Amino acid sequence: MKILIFLLILLVPFCIEAKGTLSEATKACIECHEIINPGIVNDWKKSKHYEIGSIGCAECHTGKERPDSFPHNGYMVHKVVSPKDCAPCHTVEAKEYENNIMSHAYENLMYNSLFKDLARTVNHF
Ligand code: HEC
Ligand code: HEC
Ligand code: HEC
Repeated sequence: MKILIFLLILLVPFCIEAKGTLSEATKACIECHEIINPGIVNDWKKSKHYEIGSIGCAECHTGKERPDSFPHNGYMVHKVVSPKDCAPCHTVEAKEYENNIMSHAYENLMYNSLFKDLARTVNHF
């Protein structure tokens, strides 16, 4: 038994190691943003993403260039993080949500001619 506990204690550092590390880009974001947005950084530090160890600012706010991207301290950063950014990592949740009636609310309203007439009448245009 004692030997087993000893072995478990020996393994602990490896378990922590296996959690993954922050990317260089995320480390750079944090250096500045913990000064200018301590709240955002602290919220993130309470998240599962931080606990996992490898999902930080850059993993959500950088990537393929798109209309809301802007050059920012050597990175192409996008301001808007949409459900489409979460989907590649959260495939199960994205699929579940797709089957939910709420995910079609926008189309249901915007492509519904009766709703369009209602909106036009209310707004007088
Ligand atoms: C050298 C310091 C510095 C680094 C590095 C940095 N930022 Fe910033 N960031 C700022 C400052 C200062 C602002 C606020 C002023 C501005 O908009 O430029 C800001 C603003 C932002 C905004 C808000 C823009 C807006 O218009 O509301 C986002 C989003 C952002 N940064 C994300 C990031 C991400 C993601 C990274 C890492 C890839 C990063 N930043 C790296 C200093 C930095
Ligand atoms: C899991 C994804 C995710 C992570 C990780 C993340 N963010 Fe965000 N961030 C969002 C979302 C979602 C919003 C709110 C909606 C939006 O503005 O796109 C947001 C908003 C912001 C804004 C406000 C942008 C504006 O509208 O002006 C800033 C600044 C920002 N994040 C910086 C950071 C920093 C710094 C980190 C790292 C400590 C970080 N974010 C980590 C998803 C993320
Ligand atoms: C780079 C990959 C990645 C991105 C991008 C990402 N996540 Fe995550 N997220 C993870 C991982 C890995 C976990 C931890 C394992 C799990 O719970 O699936 C996690 C955990 C979570 C959890 C906690 C689940 C729990 O069981 O406690 C929430 C909530 C979450 N993510 C929401 C989001 C949202 C919302 C976005 C987009 C704004 C996002 N994530 C973007 C990888 C990502």
